[in-house]
Amino acid sequence: MSKEQCPSPHNAAVYGDIAKTVLMCGDPLRAKFIADTYLSDVKQYNVIRGMYGFTGKYKGKTVSVQGHGMGIPSIGIYSYELFNFYDVERIIRIGTAGALTEDLNLGDLLFAQGACTDSNYGHQFNFPAQFAPIADFGMLETAVRIAREKQFPFQVGNIYSADVFYDESNSQERWGRFGVKGVEMEAAGLYINAAAAGKKALTICTISDQLVRKEYATVEQRQKNFTNMMEVALETALTY
Ligand code: HPA
Repeated sequence: MSKEQCPSPHNAAVYGDIAKTVLMCGDPLRAKFIADTYLSDVKQYNVIRGMYGFTGKYKGKTVSVQGHGMGIPSIGIYSYELFNFYDVERIIRIGTAGALTEDLNLGDLLFAQGACTDSNYGHQFNFPAQFAPIADFGMLETAVRIAREKQFPFQVGNIYSADVFYDESNSQERWGRFGVKGVEMEAAGLYINAAAAGKKALTICTISDQLVRKEYATVEQRQKNFTNMMEVALETALTY
């Protein structure tokens, strides 16, 4: 499967419309914000289902930015198509996460080195045991260096990609006890798709909720802090 599959039922882009490096975020309007704020020569390649996708230039480098929706099934579809149909080489997801350990503050960056999950997504490969989805080390190393240079507060560690947002099992603090630092809903699916396609992926989260201390980012904090992960992702893209 490759370019014959473009456009897909979910993505109107034709082969060649999408850059080798794609930033993805859950909210398509955040993808539009990134394109409007940071990119020049922008061309919108997708509006199907409102899942906006844009290609433009960041400091002269061609990059794309696209929404992926919420949850592993959604990012699973969009990232699969980017890797396998559009020959995208690397995806950087930028999103929000709830903190599961006390050492994180609202607005901190959390680089997802590995991703635990309760999702069945990996079962399609029929492994006789669990697969441990991990970030591409080169992208992780570069992004961490950039965050350090910019003096953005950050942590690196394991996260939990949950299938449910409204969790009635009250089990999330157990993940924190094992050093799993945050909960979001997509990284494991993205990392599994990257591994299956022989491609690269990284998830960078901003802490929007401190679940241990029950603190939640205000609208102002969200707007002010969420640009840190965008800048780290764009500067990382620039190195390829
Ligand atoms: N759960 C799942 N995903 C999230 C959360 C959360 O508490 N906060 C931000 N993304």
